[in-house]
Amino acid sequence: MDLKINGQVYSSQAEASDMLLWVIRDELGLTGTKFGCGAGICGACTIHVDGVAMRSCVTPTVAAEGKEIKTVEGLAGFENDAEVLHPIQEAFIEAQVPQCAWCMNGQMMTAAAFLAQNPKPSEAEIIQAMGQNYCRCGCYARIKVAVSRAAELMEQG
Ligand code: FES
Ligand code: FES
Repeated sequence: MDLKINGQVYSSQAEASDMLLWVIRDELGLTGTKFGCGAGICGACTIHVDGVAMRSCVTPTVAAEGKEIKTVEGLAGFENDAEVLHPIQEAFIEAQVPQCAWCMNGQMMTAAAFLAQNPKPSEAEIIQAMGQNYCRCGCYARIKVAVSRAAELMEQG
């Protein structure tokens, strides 16, 4: 089946029931999407399907057929042929959020989808939105700061 990922169409040999995580990583080589629990719990594998944050380890490939898939590799944009980081990427760098970084791409994908829906979140809303993305290094305080900062950066345009 054809899968549209980060604006590019990929021809995949996947079965309809294969989980997207493994198709994206192993077949198509987009390894920015990480494997954590494999059970839809930790959020390390988060991608966007039509703008909605989804856990690719428990999402059958057929569920994304004909839809716009975005992985962390597609989070940044381009302006005049130069890569422009997404505000959430800028903010995570500015706040020096990662420790081991394994969870971080999923954190940023969750945050980007959240901020697209709620560009001026309260602290409580950030905590709630990010609360189901686990970080074994315990970077939660810096994640909260960075999501809040990304909202500011987005407002400044
Ligand atoms: S690897 Fe998908 S939720 Fe943990
Ligand atoms: S930075 Fe290590 S798991 Fe989050």
